[in-house]
Parts: sequence; structure tokens; C-alpha cells
Amino acid sequence: MNILLTGGAGYIATHTCVELMKAGHDVVVVDNYVNSQPEALRRVEEIAGRSVKSYEADCCDASAMNRIFDENRIDAVIHFAGLKAVGESVHIPLRYYRNNLDSTLTLCETMAAHGCKRLVFSSSATVYGVPDEVPLREDMFCKGCTNPYGWTKYMIEKILSGVVEADPEWSVVLLRYFNPIGAHESGRIGENPNGIPNNLMPYITKVAAGQLKQLSVFGNDYDTHDGTGVRDYIHVVDLARGHVSACDYAAQHTGCEIINLGTGVGYSVLDIVNTFERVNHVPVPYVIAPRRPGDVDACYADPGKAERLLGWKAEKNLEDMCRDSWRWQSGNPNGYQA
Ligand code: UD1
Repeated sequence: MNILLTGGAGYIATHTCVELMKAGHDVVVVDNYVNSQPEALRRVEEIAGRSVKSYEADCCDASAMNRIFDENRIDAVIHFAGLKAVGESVHIPLRYYRNNLDSTLTLCETMAAHGCKRLVFSSSATVYGVPDEVPLREDMFCKGCTNPYGWTKYMIEKILSGVVEADPEWSVVLLRYFNPIGAHESGRIGENPNGIPNNLMPYITKVAAGQLKQLSVFGNDYDTHDGTGVRDYIHVVDLARGHVSACDYAAQHTGCEIINLGTGVGYSVLDIVNTFERVNHVPVPYVIAPRRPGDVDACYADPGKAERLLGWKAEKNLEDMCRDSWRWQSGNPNGYQA
């Protein structure tokens, strides 16, 4: 298939580009580079040994999107584009709603006008809100999100399921990601956050590299095996392969499916720190700090539906995730900047 990736130069998308091409698909990328660099796509080309057709454009720009669909026969779209910083979304909610919702509406209108009705969407486990019980299953009631970023994911899920209800020829797969970490094993592509990272693994790698002094472990009095927060960390290459399976599924079925992409295994903050230190032989100094508002004790997936419907399951373990994250950081201390 010829697959369009919106936000195609980002962390999860670049890994997905590589896996799609490995599986024999062609890719077209659109990205406005507000939160990514063209260099990331150059590295994808280097890994894949093939060129990637890319457009610098904003998905809210209907004429640019129309041009992409006029110039390419697109069989399916994976919609990664979107603003994604939880804390920032609390401060500038309108920008998050405007950008994430508008881009999705413009994309869907353009797809419909060109008869392309297969869409895979980057949703998030954040839509489950504060869980009553774990593991989380797709049919559990979502009680509401704790921040505007999460609400944009929630709203887009509703919009897309409404599109399918109105026109059953559409095929939509809503992928709820758990906590993606790790990097491609080549060490050439990886996560490249702007400024001081908010998420755990990029923070750990910057501490290990000596760029930040120490990790603050947010809370050690949670109801978990060691008191620190438990999450379902998934290797980004496993996650990328989940997208390849979702595209294959969308090509063979119509309708709307919600699918968790997680491992089903929860690890605590200290499990991550200890494993990272052990496999990489590098210290990660930390202090115990107060809980971070909005955090929950434990959040992990029931990944059974992905296996049943997509024939996909995560294969890499925590050691792989820690090793690959460190290889990326140590080989690219300034990310994609030379
Ligand atoms: C967060 C977002 C989620 C988003 C995801 C993207 C919230 C409430 N949730 O998930 O919506 O989809 O990122 O990957 O923000 N931790 C520390 N010290 C740190 C950073 C994190 O102890 O410096 C802990 C956290 O308390 C948590 C765990 O590490 O227990 C994971 O945190 P993080 O990587 O930020 O992900 P989530 O909060 O699970």
C-alpha cells in the first residue's frame, strides 16, 4: 500500500516509516516540523535504503492536503500529527484543541473527497482517565481526561467513530498507546524532545549523559510493589510494528476498532532506573520527590485484543528498551542537531 503518515518526522512515526517500508509498503510523509526535524527523515532513508517522499505542510491547511492527495494515490493514512505535551496543554488549551481537532477534520475531509477511507489514529491510554482497575480493556468506560491534550485524543476518537457510523465504507483503527520508549537498534533515530523532558525515559537518558543533574522520582508511596508509579512501557519498534498490522487490518475490514498497544506488563519507576543502570553500566542519580499532580498508581494494558484482531504482540523486553534508549542518547547527545 501507499501510506500517508501525518506528523511523519516524529518519534513514533519515523520508526513506523522504517517498519512499513521493511514490510514492503511505500510511504509519503507530511510534517510541519514544529516539533521535529527533516534530519529524522534523512536518517529513516539511511536505515531503509530508500527515499521517502515528504511534504512540509500543516494538516490544517486544506489546499496543501488536497495537493498531497492529488499528487499521490494514497491507500491509507496514519494520523500521527498533533501537539502532545500534557503540561503545555493545560496552559494553552485553545491551541491544542484548535490544532489537534482542526488537523483531523481537514485530513478526514480531504480523504473523503479523494475516496480514501482507511485511517489509523494515534490515540493514547490517557483517554481511560483515572483507572478503577487494571489491566485496561478497550471496552471499559472512559470517565474523562485530566488535561486538554487527553481530551483532544478523546474527542478525535468520538469524531472518527461518528465518521464510520455515517459511512460504513470507512475503516478506522484507534490505537491507544501506553508508554513508548526505546529507539531503533541502529541508534540513528529516537525520541528528541524539546528542552527539558517531561517523560521518564528521556529524562533518565539525559541524567545518565550528565546533561541533567538527577532524576526526581515523583512519589514513593503509591500502592505498587515498591511505592513508585507503575506503567506499561512498550518498545517503540514494537509499537511501530503494531501500526503495520493495523494498516493490514484496515485494508481487509471496514468499521471502527479501538485497540490497546501495550505489553500488558507494568514496571515501576525504580524498575526502570535499576534496569537502565544494570544493562548500560551507567549511574542514574535520583531523589524521591513529591507526587506529580494527575499521576496514578498503576496503568497497564490488557493487550489481548491486539493479538486477537491484529495478530500482533510486543516482543522486546525492558532490557532492550533501556539499551536502545541509551544507544540513541549516547550516539546523539544533541538529538538531530549536529
Ligand atoms: C504521560 C501522559 C500521557 C501521555 C504520555 C506520553 C500524564 C498524566 N500522562 O504519561 O497522557 O500520553 O505521557 O508518553 O502526564 N516520572 C518520574 N520522574 C520524572 C518523569 C516521570 O518519577 O521526571 C514517573 C511518573 O510519575 C510516572 C512514570 O514516571 O509514574 C511515567 O511518567 P511519564 O513518562 O511522564 O508518562 P505518563 O505520566 O505515564
